Amino acid sequence: MDPDSDQPLDSFDVTPLRKPRTPLETFKKVGVPIIATLLSLAIIITVAVLIKEILDKSYFLCGQPLHFIPRRQVCDGEQDCASGEDELHCVKNFPEGPPVTANPPSELWRLAQTKIWMLLKSWRTARSFRPCLSGSLVSLHCLACGESLKAPRVVGGEKASVDSWPWQVSIQYNKQHICGGSILDPHWILTAAHCFRKHLDVSNWKVRAGSDKLGNFPSLPVAKIFIIEHNTTYPKEKDIALVKLQFPLTFSGTVRPICLPFSDEKLPPATPLWVIGWGFTEQDGGKMSDTLLQASVQVIDSARCNAEDAYQGEVTEKMLCAGVLEGGVDTCQGDSGGPLMYHSDQWQVVGIVSWGHGCGGPGTPGVYTRVTAFLNWIYSVRKSEP
Ligand code: ARG
Repeated sequence: MDPDSDQPLDSFDVTPLRKPRTPLETFKKVGVPIIATLLSLAIIITVAVLIKEILDKSYFLCGQPLHFIPRRQVCDGEQDCASGEDELHCVKNFPEGPPVTANPPSELWRLAQTKIWMLLKSWRTARSFRPCLSGSLVSLHCLACGESLKAPRVVGGEKASVDSWPWQVSIQYNKQHICGGSILDPHWILTAAHCFRKHLDVSNWKVRAGSDKLGNFPSLPVAKIFIIEHNTTYPKEKDIALVKLQFPLTFSGTVRPICLPFSDEKLPPATPLWVIGWGFTEQDGGKMSDTLLQASVQVIDSARCNAEDAYQGEVTEKMLCAGVLEGGVDTCQGDSGGPLMYHSDQWQVVGIVSWGHGCGGPGTPGVYTRVTAFLNWIYSVRKSEP
């Protein structure tokens, strides 16, 4: 028997020394309150963000005096905030201006123009240089445009890669894809005017560049949106818009500009063209495609397109018909604003997806804004901005 074990304990030995806390107790005492605080903070922040999102969607905050007005009163042409900030950042009308050849040019000027023209033509065939033509005006500040890392190979609504079409962007309102668009230079995106018909407030529009997927890629804030004043009785006419970005794009393999066409670019019927977009893949009950699709189409004669069994004269000379005669390959809802492309030395945006009766039906091909008809407008808008 152990002699020690039976001995009564001395009173000193029973001093209730504080037992060290077990990890579980520490967690209960310190961890739980911290987690609870963090959780409540997270909940408060989420609720605040949600409330802000909901308010942002339906209301606009006027400063001085601070109050909300319904979103539909923003950019409605009437000042609802005392200092008018509800009408400040809206889609702008930029007049088309008179046709360029209003005054007959002097003989000397005509001669100079012919010389410049010949020079440009020889450059153009030299391939290495692409003179930059903007409408009737010539700018020698050139941008390498219309070059992609990959050539498209497959015909008909096939998956596309952003390497083939680095100028394609998604134009979004409140994070929702509305239209396609094409990069012209670090600041400017070319698209269709009808994309902005419902929402004229610039601040909720964003541009996404650099990906063939619709979701998660950087979204860029928009500074200004320009459309041409149009006749409301012919809403299909002049379907062109320019979006100016707040910050310049950085070009890379997946973000690059496309060329504008030459003002004298002729596209005879059956010229092969390409279209791309995230739009509906079926006319009815369709939904946006999450990946960019490409299709090969061709120019369709305007006379054929305006026939009695087709568009009956609705297609003006500032529009262009493209598709395949037998139908089945076409752009559709959600492709609007995107480019109709022609490849000569470089890729050029010769058309803008605009309208059509249904999608892909035989005899009713897609109708595109003819870009050559608006080169002067594009030039004037860009020149008007510092
Ligand atoms: N308006 C449509 C859009 O907003 C584009 C329609 C093109 N239609 C056609 N058949 N190609 O997305």
